[in-house]
Amino acid sequence: MRWVLLLSFVVAACGDDGTPVFPDDYEATYTEVRDCRQSGDHDLNNIRVLADPAALGPYQDRTTPFPEGAVVIKVQYEFGDIDCSGEVQRVTAMEKLAVGSDPTNLDWFWQSVDGDGKVLDEQLPRCAGCHQGCGVPPDGYDGTCTLP
Ligand code: HEC
Repeated sequence: MRWVLLLSFVVAACGDDGTPVFPDDYEATYTEVRDCRQSGDHDLNNIRVLADPAALGPYQDRTTPFPEGAVVIKVQYEFGDIDCSGEVQRVTAMEKLAVGSDPTNLDWFWQSVDGDGKVLDEQLPRCAGCHQGCGVPPDGYDGTCTLP
């Protein structure tokens, strides 16, 4: 028991101490904007995309600017989980930052969280690196890449 406590302390101390930018109950408060589909990204999981109330309008109309703090998440399921009904493997999230505050990251804060809500990484350069290519019209919009 002590070991477990010590171990979790060490893990917590060494790990990323960030908290997810989305709430635990995102299924209740966010809106699905892209239904279950196979990801075009390299790991080929099945994914859904959900937007928080602030991101919803801009994500759907693709004209209105995302307000600061707006959050969009991609929920990833196993390869064989074709209707996205099983366990969540990973959630990647992007939270809008103030316009012009972080051009390298396309003015988004990038985060990757495991199925248990533990933050795995934040602001990995490859997030914005790839989204900068796909997140532009006609396919993308302001750094977001999922096809309508
Ligand atoms: C190799 C390219 C690539 C990399 C690297 C990448 N993404 Fe994506 N991302 C995509 C594509 C393509 C989509 C569209 C949905 C799909 O096909 O999975 C997407 C969709 C998303 C979405 C849903 C919103 C949208 O429509 O764009 C989020 C959130 C997201 N990615 C976050 C991240 C984060 C956080 C990272 C870094 C940990 C990351 N992505 C790294 C290509 C990439």
